[in-house]
Amino acid sequence: MHISVIGTGYVGLVTGACFAEFGVNVTCMDNDAKRIARLEKGDVPFYEPGITELVAKGLKENRLSFTTDIAKAVDKALVIFIAVGTPPKEDGSADLSFVEEVGRGIARYMTGYKVIVTKSTVPVGTGEAIRAVIKKTQQEPIRFDIVSNPEFLREGSAIEDFMRPNRVVIGADSDQAVAIMKDLYRPLYLIETPFVVTDVPTAELIKYASNAFLATKISFINEIANLCEKVGANVQMVAKGMGLDHRIGSKFLHAGPGFGGSCFPKDLAALIQTGERNGLPMQIASAASRVNQNQLRQMVKKIREATGDVAGKTLAMLGLSFKPNTNDLREAPALALGQELLAAGAAVRVYDPAALEEACRALPKLQACRDAYHAAEGADALIIVTEWNQFRNLDFERLKSVMRRPLLLDLRNVYDPQRVAAAGFRHVSVGRPP
Ligand code: UGA
Repeated sequence: MHISVIGTGYVGLVTGACFAEFGVNVTCMDNDAKRIARLEKGDVPFYEPGITELVAKGLKENRLSFTTDIAKAVDKALVIFIAVGTPPKEDGSADLSFVEEVGRGIARYMTGYKVIVTKSTVPVGTGEAIRAVIKKTQQEPIRFDIVSNPEFLREGSAIEDFMRPNRVVIGADSDQAVAIMKDLYRPLYLIETPFVVTDVPTAELIKYASNAFLATKISFINEIANLCEKVGANVQMVAKGMGLDHRIGSKFLHAGPGFGGSCFPKDLAALIQTGERNGLPMQIASAASRVNQNQLRQMVKKIREATGDVAGKTLAMLGLSFKPNTNDLREAPALALGQELLAAGAAVRVYDPAALEEACRALPKLQACRDAYHAAEGADALIIVTEWNQFRNLDFERLKSVMRRPLLLDLRNVYDPQRVAAAGFRHVSVGRPP
């Protein structure tokens, strides 16, 4: 089978490279010529474990190719995945102009039956909108089907999530399209991955409901963490005690500085917007979003209280990307925190294994450091914002010898408070007694 993926962003490239690994012939198309030129040489423009190797393999074995020519991408493929961006508009709703443009491109060049699939997160109703755009643009009526096949992969473990997903969701209103999609995903069928086959709007909503639910779990535990601090309880034990109930589950109950990234904040906003448009306020999603914004303010307050006043202090921040194993800084709590601390008059020394340069471009007053120990030099506090593995086993003796004061603000609850205290550090974490 031959497929195309339009858009070589995160979702598009991972999808293309993974299907090539499944033995499918894949053409990835993007109208960014520079990006395509880089990809043709195997140069992946973002950090994700395993993707470079997979792209190189696909290129070498001639199952993966890149083009800027939409006609070429449409012509060969039976299945066309749309994986272009849906950036948020000012009111929180998603901007569908890129998706619609691709729809027009497909309509112009199709000469036979196609299955047209939305892969990136698109608001409920987008499938129907694409159908309308294609029908309107087609010179003559050629049959096609629309499918919603939302992606659930996480940055940092995208390849593994694609190859071993919890489920595959296929929203379609044609048996032929469902059969083609199942054929495409046959390797997953063989490992007994559950398939959820439904209609297009339901599949679109499954994606938003899933992300909003996960975001709600995080906001819920963050609110409980703040209460723990007031009543002297330990949020990690509360989460453990809750999570052992199979109906609740232990995942996504880690308290911290709040969720970031390109998905949760944007998808919550889009869901809230969809609710409003339909006269049905999404009250829980709205609360999850509000609690998340408040959590960042809580972190600033925590840092201020622990350091006395941040003005004139030197603070060392470890971890800048919105989570470990990625260089993605979109909605990263660390950037928002850095901005607040700089504005309050602190000097902020920073280190991140993958996002350092980009973070310092975004906030030029941040002082880039070589590693955690360099960042800690002369610091009044060391703040762990993102829990990269290399920050999980720091040498406290070495840190103490270079810092002005031995204070650790552990915003991801990485360390056991007793171990930190035994090393002679004051330890402030989230939702746990000191
Ligand atoms: C999220 C979803 O987990 C994926 O299933 C989905 O496919 C993706 O969005 C998407 O829609 O494309 P991602 O944004 O890559 O994936 O990252 P997550 O691992 O979900 O983390 C999101 C944020 O929540 C991070 O800032 C992380 O630090 C935070 N988080 C996560 C917590 O604060 N506590 C937790 O317990 C879990």
